[in-house]
Amino acid sequence: WSRCSRRMMEGEYLIFWWGFQLVLTNSTEVESPTSGFCPYSAVFNAQGYHLFQALRFSIQEINNSSTLLPNITLGYDLFDVCSDIANVYGTLKLLSKCTKSYLEMQNNFTEYKPRAVAVIGPSSSNYAFVSASILGSFLIPQISYSASNEMLSLKQIYPSFLRTIPSDKLQVEVMLRLLQRFNWTWVAIVGSADAYGTQGLQDLYALASSNGICVAYQGIIPASKNKTEIKKIITNIVQTRVKVIVVFSAYTYTTNFFDVVVQLNITDYVWIGSESWSIDTVTASVPNINTIGTVLGVSVTKGNLPGLVDFEIDYIRSVSAGVSSNYGCNQACNVCKTFTMQNMPTVSQFSMSVSFNVYAAVYSIAYSLHELLDCKSGQCKRNTFYPWQLLEQIKKVNFSLYNQSIYFDENGNPATGYDIVMWDWSTGNASFNIIGTFSKNPVSLELKKDVIWFTKDNSIPVSICSEECNKGERRVQLGSYVCCFECIPCPEMTFLNRSDLYTCQQCQLNQWSPALSETCYNRTIEYLSWTDPICVVLLVIITLLLLLIISVLFVFVRNLTTPVVKSAGGKMCLAMLTSLALSCFTLYCYFGKPNSATCMIRQPVFAISFTVCFSCLVVHAFQIVCIFKMAAHLPRVYEIWVKKNGSDIFIFVSSAGQILISVIWIVVKPPQPIEDYSTFQDQIIYKCSETDSVGSFIEIIYIGILSMFCFIFCYMGKDLPENYNEAKCISFSLLVYFFSWIGFFTTYIIYQGKYIAAANVVTILASVFGILVGYFSPKCYIILFRKELNTTEHFQTAIQNYTKKQSEQ
Ligand SMILES: *[C@@H]1O[C@H](CO)[C@@H](O)[C@H](O)[C@H]1NC(C)=O
Ligand SMILES: *[C@@H]1O[C@H](CO)[C@@H](O)[C@H](O)[C@H]1NC(C)=O
Ligand SMILES: *[C@@H]1O[C@H](CO)[C@@H](O)[C@H](O)[C@H]1NC(C)=O
Ligand SMILES: *[C@@H]1O[C@H](CO)[C@@H](O)[C@H](O)[C@H]1NC(C)=O
Ligand SMILES: *[C@@H]1O[C@H](CO)[C@@H](O)[C@H](O)[C@H]1NC(C)=O
Ligand SMILES: *[C@@H]1O[C@H](CO)[C@@H](O)[C@H](O)[C@H]1NC(C)=O
Ligand SMILES: *[C@@H]1O[C@H](CO)[C@@H](O)[C@H](O)[C@H]1NC(C)=O
Ligand SMILES: *[C@@H]1O[C@H](CO)[C@@H](O)[C@H](O)[C@H]1NC(C)=O
Ligand SMILES: *[C@@H]1O[C@H](CO)[C@@H](O)[C@H](O)[C@H]1NC(C)=O
Ligand SMILES: *[C@@H]1O[C@H](CO)[C@@H](O)[C@H](O)[C@H]1NC(C)=O
Ligand SMILES: *[C@@H]1O[C@H](CO)[C@@H](O)[C@H](O)[C@H]1NC(C)=O
Ligand SMILES: *[C@@H]1O[C@H](CO)[C@@H](O)[C@H](O)[C@H]1NC(C)=O
Repeated sequence: WSRCSRRMMEGEYLIFWWGFQLVLTNSTEVESPTSGFCPYSAVFNAQGYHLFQALRFSIQEINNSSTLLPNITLGYDLFDVCSDIANVYGTLKLLSKCTKSYLEMQNNFTEYKPRAVAVIGPSSSNYAFVSASILGSFLIPQISYSASNEMLSLKQIYPSFLRTIPSDKLQVEVMLRLLQRFNWTWVAIVGSADAYGTQGLQDLYALASSNGICVAYQGIIPASKNKTEIKKIITNIVQTRVKVIVVFSAYTYTTNFFDVVVQLNITDYVWIGSESWSIDTVTASVPNINTIGTVLGVSVTKGNLPGLVDFEIDYIRSVSAGVSSNYGCNQACNVCKTFTMQNMPTVSQFSMSVSFNVYAAVYSIAYSLHELLDCKSGQCKRNTFYPWQLLEQIKKVNFSLYNQSIYFDENGNPATGYDIVMWDWSTGNASFNIIGTFSKNPVSLELKKDVIWFTKDNSIPVSICSEECNKGERRVQLGSYVCCFECIPCPEMTFLNRSDLYTCQQCQLNQWSPALSETCYNRTIEYLSWTDPICVVLLVIITLLLLLIISVLFVFVRNLTTPVVKSAGGKMCLAMLTSLALSCFTLYCYFGKPNSATCMIRQPVFAISFTVCFSCLVVHAFQIVCIFKMAAHLPRVYEIWVKKNGSDIFIFVSSAGQILISVIWIVVKPPQPIEDYSTFQDQIIYKCSETDSVGSFIEIIYIGILSMFCFIFCYMGKDLPENYNEAKCISFSLLVYFFSWIGFFTTYIIYQGKYIAAANVVTILASVFGILVGYFSPKCYIILFRKELNTTEHFQTAIQNYTKKQSEQ
């Protein structure tokens, strides 16, 4: 039925076929060049047989169809791979010229017509590399149903290779997602010693490592049946304390491997299987394999070919009826096998899935031919084409088979995804439960929720090197694996960003965080606000005090010429009251958000006012205490003092001194509004820079010295006449002043929050109040309520009494 033996018009096309090995051979040395038949003694391979039947089934279906390729029949030639890497015989045979039985070398193969238009197979990547590369140079389409090695996706090397099984790159991705889904970051990988296993191992290792999963151990299952090597691998794995082992292996290796695993009493592990063995009934029937733990597997999407089993049964019936020759023994006749209904190989789920891939491969070629030959009208209009034209068409094909859509991506890989299976031992023998699916378009892994884990408490096994850190702790890597680390708490003012688990990051200046934090919080902005209840109270007091001072001032102005006022200093009192009012007025600057004006005004103005006030007090105390003694002992100095108006000069000079200090301070380093970030970590305190500046310190010392003088004079005048006892009043004011400021500095040492400004206000209020009460209130009392005492006569009597007493002593 070669299309070469008849004319093209009759529409028969040959599809070339390498079956999944019909025989498995054990290698011996070849002594002479062999024929196309398998040279070695061999055993029958049931899997290959099913796939071959699937091919027949699909071709018959297409031939029977009146819509797909009408009046065109497909044929095939079948070759056994015979465990031969190069499949030399098959490859060369198919490349032979259509009309002759040899490959005719030409300069230009554009119009070359080989014996077959397309190739299906071979079964595994090992056997596909050479033939795919040779066929590639002729652009003869080749579709494999189970060669999954990622290398075959390289279109510059294998331009005409396509497949209906996903590439291992996708499989490795599924495995990665499985690991990630269950948070398994500490795993071992073993691969079989063939291209499938080593490539898979390599790819998975690279992908896992770059996704934060640590591969604690990698091993290669040797091809030999010697168990020593496998024991070594397993012992090493046990030592790493992983709980999850990925076995990326061809199914031919796994029986032996799990034999050893069972022997070594390895239990309670999670095994992740690659597609080749994950639903392999032979591996699943290793004695006592149900003790090894949980087996999860990636498997080719469960395909269903409803008619296949019946087709195989029909076939055996027809063979035994002598209708057809026995295809089980087509080529390698050293393994002849005649099936009966009794010894018919059962179709396993694995065979069915791969059979579906064969089916899809045949249909891809049929649909492409249909398109290429322009058969849409129900009749094919074209009859000449070349294999490279068919290849172009296959790349574009897009159809649906049993609800699965079939097309190839730019690398010749299918759209198919995977199933995730879990081995279920609950019935005694293993059954393969599909617990999820992985789809490629769009990429997603769906897993069932109610999965039974074969662990002690049916919980999901944990496979990690180090426990996850607590909230707000950073990792410090131990050794070379990123998965092994210890946890260090993040200190205050730092936080752990989820994007970098290894460093605690600093909070911004206007933010803060407690220890072990994962975020920073905004700091609150603190200053004495006008509406704060304490401030409202203070403001009321300030205002009342200010009014009081103004009233006293008024009283003094009205009674300026009376003896009480005169003896209290006369105009000097007005200066004192004015400066008290002024310093009271500066208290308003302590409220609200500080700005440069309020900062610059409040302390210097207060300092100058108080300097004026204290200078007056000093002069006054000096005059009442020392003036007699000075007049007696130093008459010249006394004369000058009176003549040159010494008291005014003193007040002026001392005030000028303080003004000079203030000016220098403001010019050199003016008090500024500042934001205090250091006192409280969760607050920003708006305040003036004055409290910790040299200028402020000097000013306070200056006032302090004045007050000391004042105090000394008062002490000296402690024995003055009672109704003339100014010294006691001044001492009282000074004491109030001292104690309030000592109080303030003590508070300042232990507390520097926003209310320190309020404390400052209270201190100044107390000082002002002290002077007002101590110095001015007795005079007001006499002026307002004891007018009889406010006379010159009364004063003279008092002085005479005093003088008399002095002389009696
Ligand atoms: C090949 O294997 C079969 C079955 O396993 C065995 O009977 C046969 O002796 C082997 N042949 C050689 C050459 O090893
Ligand atoms: C294809 O169909 C034709 C006609 O139905 C039949 O003669 C031929 O044997 C079939 N070929 C195969 C391979 O089944
Ligand atoms: C193809 O048609 C023949 C005869 O019509 C039938 O016996 C056979 O079962 C059909 N094959 C398929 C796969 O449908
Ligand atoms: C198929 O071929 C037969 C004979 O060669 C012809 O009678 C029939 O019309 C053709 N059918 C189609 C759909 O072309
Ligand atoms: C090969 O042959 C085709 C058709 O005969 C022609 O179009 C093409 O140019 C040739 N290529 C070369 C490189 O000679
Ligand atoms: C994996 O870790 C994530 C985040 O740490 C958690 O939300 C999820 O529940 C974990 N999954 C399993 C299966 O433990
Ligand atoms: C297996 O290999 C080891 C060395 O790797 C060797 O010592 C041992 O004898 C071999 N066992 C068998 C049964 O061949
Ligand atoms: C495995 O367990 C069995 C029975 O529990 C015991 O006889 C055997 O020695 C154990 N094997 C190993 C390698 O520990
Ligand atoms: C295949 O065809 C279907 C509709 O027939 C379309 O939705 C889908 O996008 C196509 N896929 C590709 C890869 O062209
Ligand atoms: C295909 O899908 C449709 C709807 O999703 C469903 O009704 C039908 O049974 C499916 N066919 C097959 C062969 O699975
Ligand atoms: C398990 O399999 C064995 C052999 O394949 C069979 O004899 C046995 O009946 C099966 N047991 C169950 C519970 O299916
Ligand atoms: C923190 O402050 C910034 C501006 O400084 C603001 O945009 C942000 O909303 C604030 N965050 C919170 C939680 O208040």
